[in-house]
Amino acid sequence: FADAGKVVAIRAGRLVDVVAGTVLKDQTIVITGERITSVGPSASAKVPAGAQLIDLSSQTVLPGLIDMHTHLTGDPYLGGYNALGVSDTRAALYGVRAARKTLEAGFTTVRNVGASGFGDVALRDAINDGDFIGPRMRTAGYAIGIQGGHCDENLLPPDMKFTSRGVADGPWEARAKVREMAKYGADVIKICASGGVLSKGDEPGAQQYTLEEMQAIVGEAHKLGRKVAAHAHGASSIRDAILAGVDSIEHASLIDDEGIKLAREKGTYLVMDIYNDDFILQEGEKAGMLPESIAKEKVVGQIQRDNFRKALNGGAKMAFGTDSGVYPHGDNARQFAYMIKYGMTSMQAIQAATINAADLLGWKDRVGSLTAGKFADIIAVKGDPAENATELTKVTFVMKGGEVIRK
Ligand code: ARG
Repeated sequence: FADAGKVVAIRAGRLVDVVAGTVLKDQTIVITGERITSVGPSASAKVPAGAQLIDLSSQTVLPGLIDMHTHLTGDPYLGGYNALGVSDTRAALYGVRAARKTLEAGFTTVRNVGASGFGDVALRDAINDGDFIGPRMRTAGYAIGIQGGHCDENLLPPDMKFTSRGVADGPWEARAKVREMAKYGADVIKICASGGVLSKGDEPGAQQYTLEEMQAIVGEAHKLGRKVAAHAHGASSIRDAILAGVDSIEHASLIDDEGIKLAREKGTYLVMDIYNDDFILQEGEKAGMLPESIAKEKVVGQIQRDNFRKALNGGAKMAFGTDSGVYPHGDNARQFAYMIKYGMTSMQAIQAATINAADLLGWKDRVGSLTAGKFADIIAVKGDPAENATELTKVTFVMKGGEVIRK
């Protein structure tokens, strides 16, 4: 942790102002303890005597990146049946390495949307206690879903009598599950509104939670001050989740025109993980993913990318999220190439991973831009990411809360 009184000044050759959508030249950021105290032109900057100077005058400086869809306790090579031998405790320890890799890649905040135990909550707390390094975390605990659905474990025969602990059927059971997650440390509620790719025996296009169940979940979660993220590939699940009032749609692969219109009207964020198709198709078999999962990916992967462009053109709000854990942790920034290929400007892609993500987290007062008062979560790259956001795969400098993590 940065000392409370320590003053650091960063000289930035270029600085991305994600709020204005512009790049400023020759700026100085002053940091006191863990927060930014001022940002402005170097020529007129008042740098207190004795401040430590960090010279990034040949680089571009921007706010730390935010990934809204991670599974830090997951590992891509534990696909399909490989996952069954992994204890919750072991999974939490996978998370220690994943947290470091994610932070070193420039992602200073993540929203972790589902873990088998409360390993995500333990990780968050251990990072906050300074036991090891990792991004700021907002965590969900168990992903909540129907029996036999994407958030259940369907690999075992009935005589093994195994049900995932996030399973809840019916409005009141689902409300109780939300209360349980809140009790044990969830900051956000994750639900499975539709089937999925990496689950056995269901279809991404088929709805799982009913409108009535989702209304109960959202009502309960919002009452308890938690936002709701809904895994939803299929068009009807997306529509009902938005109507129920969820805060973000995850994947949104098969979204239709009505879904895009509803998302725009209700201000629901779309978090579309359009990189991991590459990993699933190239490495999935080796990683143990089921043949049916790879077959499902072949159907939804390209449609999702095309629908990313449609949703963008349709004016839906978008935040950056990748589903890390499905592909190796630390490769999160590889998604920027696809966001550009499917229609975003580099600046829009950066905004999706900073200011928009901060908005969806409810953390606009803390992270997401280089603004006085916010945490000093700062990264740098050699090139100009506002010209080409794929530069973000080559982060050279990472600071989290005033502490230099990588240089
Ligand atoms: N967790 C998601 C699922 O199993 C991953 C989907 C990955 N594919 C994609 N095209 N985004 O449904």
